[in-house]
This record gives sequence, C-alpha cells and structure tokens, in this order.
Amino acid sequence: MERTSSSLHTDKIGAEQQMKLFPATRYMGSKSKLLQYIWDASSKYKFDSVIDLFSGSGVVSYMYKTHGKAVISNDYMAMGGVITKALVENDSTILPVEEAKELIKDNIDTDEFVYKTFKGIYYNDEDNHFIDVLRAHIALMDDEYKKAIAMQALIRTCVKKRPRGIFTYVGDRYNDGRKDLQKSFEDHFLEAVALINNAVFSNGRHCESYNVDSMNLNKKADLVYIDPPYYTPKSDNEYVRRYHFVEGLARDWKGVEIQEHTKTKKFKSYPTPFSTKDGAENAFDTIFKQYSDSILVVSYSSNSLPNMEDMINLLKKYKNNVEVIPVDYKYSFGTRNTVKRNNVQEYIFIGA
Ligand SMILES: C[S@@+](CC[C@H](N)C(=O)[O-])C[C@H]1O[C@@H](n2cnc3c(N)ncnc32)[C@H](O)[C@@H]1O
Repeated sequence: MERTSSSLHTDKIGAEQQMKLFPATRYMGSKSKLLQYIWDASSKYKFDSVIDLFSGSGVVSYMYKTHGKAVISNDYMAMGGVITKALVENDSTILPVEEAKELIKDNIDTDEFVYKTFKGIYYNDEDNHFIDVLRAHIALMDDEYKKAIAMQALIRTCVKKRPRGIFTYVGDRYNDGRKDLQKSFEDHFLEAVALINNAVFSNGRHCESYNVDSMNLNKKADLVYIDPPYYTPKSDNEYVRRYHFVEGLARDWKGVEIQEHTKTKKFKSYPTPFSTKDGAENAFDTIFKQYSDSILVVSYSSNSLPNMEDMINLLKKYKNNVEVIPVDYKYSFGTRNTVKRNNVQEYIFIGA
C-alpha cells in the first residue's frame, strides 16, 4: 500500500526494517552486502554525525541514517547527489503517484535531446521520446525533493531497462530476456516512484546531500566513512564511463562535452586522484589529515593499491589506534547466464 505521508521515524519500525525499504541497485562498488560489517565496525565508537565522502548508491548513508545519525553525503557524480537528496537529506516529501503520472504525459514540447543524440544506441525511439518527455516535465518542477525523487526514478528506470545496468556498450547484446527488460518504461517509472516514496523517512536529525569533489567538501563530523574507487593497475574503476548516460540525465548534460566520435556517446570521465597508485595514496593521506579529528572508517579491497600495510601506515600517521577487519567477499560479474565470481577480501580499516 502506498504511504501518503512520510513523517515516519525510525523508532517506529527499527533500523533493520527501515533499511529493507532502500531501493537497491547494482551500482559498481556498492556496499549493500557489507552494511552489517560497516555498522558493527562503526558502532564500537560513540558518534553522532557522519560524513559519507564517496556515497555512490547512497546505501551506506541511508544505513547510518536508519541508526539515527546526522548524515552528510557526498559524491562527485551528480547521480550520487540525486539519490541522497531524495532519501538522505529529504525526510518528509514524497512524489504522489498522481503527480508522477502527470510527468509521463506526452503533452509538453521536448528538446528531443535523447531522441536525437542516442538514437539506436541504448533504447528504441519510443523509449527515448519517453525519456525526453520526462526530462522536460522534471525540468519544470519547483520542489527540490520531488524533483530528486522523479529524477532518481528515471535513472532507476533507465538502469533497469539496460542489460547489466551499464552504458559501456551499444545495442542489445547482453539481453538475457529478464523481466526487467520486458517491462515498459512507464511501469518501471511509476514503480520506482512508489519504491522511493516508501523509503523516505525522518530520523529526527538534520541530514545533507552534496555533489562536489571529496577534497572540496569542507564539513566536519564525528565519523568519516571513506569508500573511494578501488585502484588496481588492471581493472577499470571509472564511474563516468559506466554510467555516463544516467549521469548525463542527472546533470542534463550541462558542463560536459559528449565525445562525438565514441559509439557510446560518452563524455570524459571527471578527474579523480583514484585513477593512479600514487594519486590514490596521496589522496588518502590528504583526506586522513583533513579529518584527523574524526573517527576514520575506510573500505578498500585486498587486490587494490595502496595495499593493506601501506594503508595501515598511512592511517597511523594520524591515528593511534588502527584496526583492520577483513571480510571475505565474492564479487560477481556478468549476466545471469555467465556469472563469474572473484574471491577477494574486502577490508574495513578503522582509525580512532
Ligand atoms: C566505491 S564507490 C562508493 C560506493 C558507495 N559506498 C556505495 O555503497 O554505493 C566510489 C564512489 O566515489 C566517487 N568518486 C570518485 N572520485 C571522487 C572524488 N574525487 N570525489 C568525490 N567522489 C568521487 C564515484 O563517483 C563513486 O560513486
């Protein structure tokens, strides 16, 4: 049943139940399966406020919110800012289904941007037009939280309608016939709105959502959760390359230049220090220094650089007590038919 109001307080249903309402996605590097470990590691310490510096899918921010913390979420991807605006900062606004239905009405002039730019690339003409209609309606919305819910629902729809949920290839080659791919854009969108509405809640605390480079977020909190892209020399950790289409939606392709020669019509990845070993090491050092007064909780994996020893040494520069919690974790890749599993250890480092 759809809720009409969302002044829900976590006390009423408990953190665990509230967490189940988070609309999960398959975002690269999402910690949705590690939440309990992150919470167990954090909750040994007394803290009231949290910065989630690389919030990605928003699932960790939401987890801390369910535990009654004042959460500041940040990611340099605009799409990261959309989800945390809708479900972390927002504590009471929903987008009523009747209003959502108005957004899909084909009664507005569109700029045909998606229809023309991405013709024959990810979706058919009809679906591309649907996206443009939604974009045009969303652009006219005044309420920032309703707008974020609508945009998040559109992003979720596009990801669900895309085999593997990514935009690194063109055409339909990974279509394994799953239900999500058969369902219409309209059904996906309205379902997504209902799901997001249902996840809106207040924990009685002031929470904030930001969309800046990690080095430029000048905020303070008792605990800082640090989960940047994992650097390995072999694998690709570029978020923009994977998600450029939905990231483009989130920022309406403002301030980026589509690389017209590419088949995928992607735009350049944003610069981040986490694309080289030295860059990552220096960035960790800078972040640890900047937040040296806070409890530091870092997620990183065993096949990434800096390695475990280096990370411990970096943390020890600023923190007296450094602890590592190894978690055996299996990453899976591919479509339903070709699932490969890769055994790595996921580390949670804590500096206090
Ligand atoms: C491993 S993911 C975070 C996953 C997140 N904890 C979750 O559970 O969904 C890393 C995130 O860092 C973001 N990112 C990369 N470089 C950044 C930078 N310089 N500043 C802020 N965010 C950055 C990426 O957009 C990506 O969402």
